[in-house]
Amino acid sequence: MSDFQLTRTLDEHAADRALRADVLHGLTHSPKVLPPKWFYDARGSELFEEITRLPEYYPTRAEREILLARAQEIAVVSGARTLVELGSGSSEKTRHLIEAMPALDTYIPVDVSESALSGAAQTLLEEHPGLRVHALLADFTKPLHLPQSPGPRLVVFLGGTVGNLLPPERAVFLASVRAMLSPGDALLMGTDLVKDEDVLVAAYDDAQGVTAEFNKNVLSVIDRELGADFHTEDFVHVAVWNREQEWIEMRLRARSELVVKVRELDLLVPFAAGEEILTEVSAKFRQEGVRRELSAAGLELTHWWTDAAGRFALSLSVADGAEPAADSGRESEAETAA
Ligand code: SAH
Ligand code: AVI
Repeated sequence: MSDFQLTRTLDEHAADRALRADVLHGLTHSPKVLPPKWFYDARGSELFEEITRLPEYYPTRAEREILLARAQEIAVVSGARTLVELGSGSSEKTRHLIEAMPALDTYIPVDVSESALSGAAQTLLEEHPGLRVHALLADFTKPLHLPQSPGPRLVVFLGGTVGNLLPPERAVFLASVRAMLSPGDALLMGTDLVKDEDVLVAAYDDAQGVTAEFNKNVLSVIDRELGADFHTEDFVHVAVWNREQEWIEMRLRARSELVVKVRELDLLVPFAAGEEILTEVSAKFRQEGVRRELSAAGLELTHWWTDAAGRFALSLSVADGAEPAADSGRESEAETAA
């Protein structure tokens, strides 16, 4: 018998109110801006999975390489009986971790995409019939009410999604993760690393145009949910490396002067030719920056692993002064290939 439960902390009305507020604020703001979480309707989640298979998009492959090499160690060090995953998507890479954790009792994937949550749960339950899967349809930037489950807990946040939060949002988010951790619990977080601009820009502007379609999907979401009349062909996908901030910016640039109507908001949004909407930042990190941000949130980095090419890192951290459940190796033994 499969053991699956889905809790919707985001009912349709709450999601609709949040979208209205974000669109009203973001499209009347100068410069125009939209939060990246609205990419991920069912089509957006599918497009993201396509991105992960693109030759230019290295982060998924690099993170999988680290997980395959370190899953056993992470399982032993964390001793986790509950795995909480924020922004779990397809849970594709997480499966390597779950396979290395025979004592795992409960998996709690948290995502705003219901299609991603149910697809992932179905696959996982087929592979691990004894596992309890309690999915949460929730926004991980809001207070989370996790179901009861046995400790220790390992909270995982993969893919480099932390880089899609702006620095002040990251500070609040990491502090809220810290507040979730009891002694013996740990956080495993993926961060993409600073590298050559050409490699970075290609990863966000692929030759097949899948990332462009993913970026424009946010306009289709607003058309469908708020009765807007965006035409995706009126906008060009732009990916730029911001050297000072060390993040990629994805933008949508109006090809010509135009006015978009958002019927449900009774709003007319004028665009000058060439005017842009900032739809996502994807920050790239260095070890010291990750350590500093974790530390500011009351988290202590205990392990740092990278892929062989030093493109991506996984870090393990615990609440200040606490230790992972089985402390098999502190940072001095960690890999520091970066
Ligand atoms: N962790 C997966 C998926 C990364 S894509 C991987 O590494 O491949 C980012 C995921 O985070 C998507 O599934 C998206 O729906 C989810 N997401 C984005 N913003 C979110 C938010 N504010 N709250 C919850 N989930 C969010
Ligand atoms: C989910 N997140 C880590 C992806 C990233 O690389 O910032 C989203 C993405 N945007 C464009 N391509 C992929």
